[in-house]
Amino acid sequence: MTFLFNSDARRGAVFADAFARELPDVPFTMDAATVDPDAVRYLISWTVPDNLARYRNLEILFSIGAGVDQLRLDSVPAKVKIVRMIEEGIVRMMQEYVTLAVLALHRNLPAYLAQQRAGEWHDIAQLQAGARRLGVLGLGQLGQAVLDRLKPFGFPLAGWSRSPRRIEGVTCHHGKLGLEEMIAVSDILICLLPLTEETRGFLDADLFAKLPEGAALVHTGRGPQLDHEALVAALDSGHLSAAMIDVTDPEPLPAGHPFWSHPKIILTPHVASVTQPATAARAVIDNIRRHRAGLDPIGLIDRSRGY
Ligand code: NAP
Ligand code: GLV
Repeated sequence: MTFLFNSDARRGAVFADAFARELPDVPFTMDAATVDPDAVRYLISWTVPDNLARYRNLEILFSIGAGVDQLRLDSVPAKVKIVRMIEEGIVRMMQEYVTLAVLALHRNLPAYLAQQRAGEWHDIAQLQAGARRLGVLGLGQLGQAVLDRLKPFGFPLAGWSRSPRRIEGVTCHHGKLGLEEMIAVSDILICLLPLTEETRGFLDADLFAKLPEGAALVHTGRGPQLDHEALVAALDSGHLSAAMIDVTDPEPLPAGHPFWSHPKIILTPHVASVTQPATAARAVIDNIRRHRAGLDPIGLIDRSRGY
């Protein structure tokens, strides 16, 4: 029962050490060319290898990331469990990134950067945190962790999910009506939704129009959730004040795309959060132990929901 690691060698070396130490009865390999395909029971990858069908005895496909949309769930045989990455490193990095983005937008950083480039020196009226309302789309492992990290700043916090949630200190919304209620009062909207058929194109002109005047966007979900043209139009009209964008479609953006140089956009190259190999290896090993004990792995994907 071999574990096949199909990702970068640097992280693979950390996984190899952890498997040798903690799960020595599961052979570990990074070499798809020489592995016996019938021996492969566990595979970790970012995308689905073209030759997935050769692993006839595959039991679990692990995503090396928190998202699974890139795995094209339909291309994976129904008997194979698909498991997303839940590990403390990825959570911590997302907490850092969203805190950075929220504080940058709260303190008018895009406007001050534009002033610096223009050689201008004047202040912009500053709202206090208690008057800057935050709304988080997605209350999963990352949405909840981000809200938790933002609590000490004193922003009014809200979140939205598919099913009802209760989180202390957070006004929780769900469903279509809940979405309308939340976006109407979100001065900074943070997207941490998985990419599914329901969330593709979600951040569009209609949604932007319903945000309060001067609202800002943090997008750390997936690129295809955002209508790029609608965002530029909302920023150019002045309805939205700024955006910090980590994910785009395509990645990278082509030369000349307006996001590269838009004065109200801070763009990062899909780096908000990156799987940390030591903690990820531990999470994967724990999940293999659970699976062997007849338990569902933590982070098991519900294919009918798409996440
Ligand atoms: P998760 O634990 O599966 O949580 C997903 C949340 O989104 C849940 O609260 C879920 O609602 C909600 N949701 C999904 N579809 C919805 C819909 N149609 N309407 C309303 N709510 C919906 O996921 P996660 O681990 O927090 O990760 C979220 C996403 O972040 C990933 O899928 C990935 O795309 C993105 N990500 C980006 C980076 C980066 O570097 N930019 C890094 C890691 C992850 P329920 O609670 O009701 O199920
Ligand atoms: C990164 O985008 C991830 O899904 O972990």
